[in-house]
Amino acid sequence: MKIAPSILSADFSRLKEEIDTIKEADWIHIDVMDGHFVPNLTIGPAVVKAIRPHSDLVFDTHLMISDPGRYLDYFIDAGSDHITFHIETVDNVDALIGKLHAAGVKAGLSLKPATPVSDLKPYLDKVDLVLVMSVEPGFGGQSFMRDTVAKMEELDRLRSENGYGYEIVVDGGINESTAAICESAGVDVVVAGSYVFKSADRAKQIRRLRR
Ligand code: DX5
Ligand code: ZN
Repeated sequence: MKIAPSILSADFSRLKEEIDTIKEADWIHIDVMDGHFVPNLTIGPAVVKAIRPHSDLVFDTHLMISDPGRYLDYFIDAGSDHITFHIETVDNVDALIGKLHAAGVKAGLSLKPATPVSDLKPYLDKVDLVLVMSVEPGFGGQSFMRDTVAKMEELDRLRSENGYGYEIVVDGGINESTAAICESAGVDVVVAGSYVFKSADRAKQIRRLRR
């Protein structure tokens, strides 16, 4: 599995040094929150731009914001390699996916724990990533919701039945044991915030998750 540490749990006062500790990872997961779609405010495009020169990892931007279409250009220009937005926030999903692809950015769709996979079906042949939230979006450090595993399995089954090409990403409450559950469910990438950054040895934590 690929590992995507979420910098939401990093020390924001020393972000460059924190990013230097996760070189063994595959992606950097960047949680963008607007205080409206979710009850928290975090990182904007200026921060993404500031850290971009300090890492060769894939920048995986997770927009937990209302009306994400208004902000795509900013996050593209800041250096995002992937941009994932929430199915609950938009009607013009095809237009946003088209815009990302035209800019050479991979497009992801995410769903909250209560949102069914069926809401994503019209877009599954076009998206590059599907991000299953395994906690309510908004905060790091929450517990993995086991009932979201059925959605991971459903996405894996739909992918093999239809020949879709998306990667399945899981976000929230990841540790060694929940990562193993996700891997068995067909997941390709796990996002981990507190599990990686609350430990002094980040390289070791990344290796433990990969196992
Ligand atoms: C939650 C964010 C997650 C969060 C994960 O809304 O989308 O990416 O940082 O943090 P942990 O791994 O601590 O649950
Ligand atoms: Zn996230």
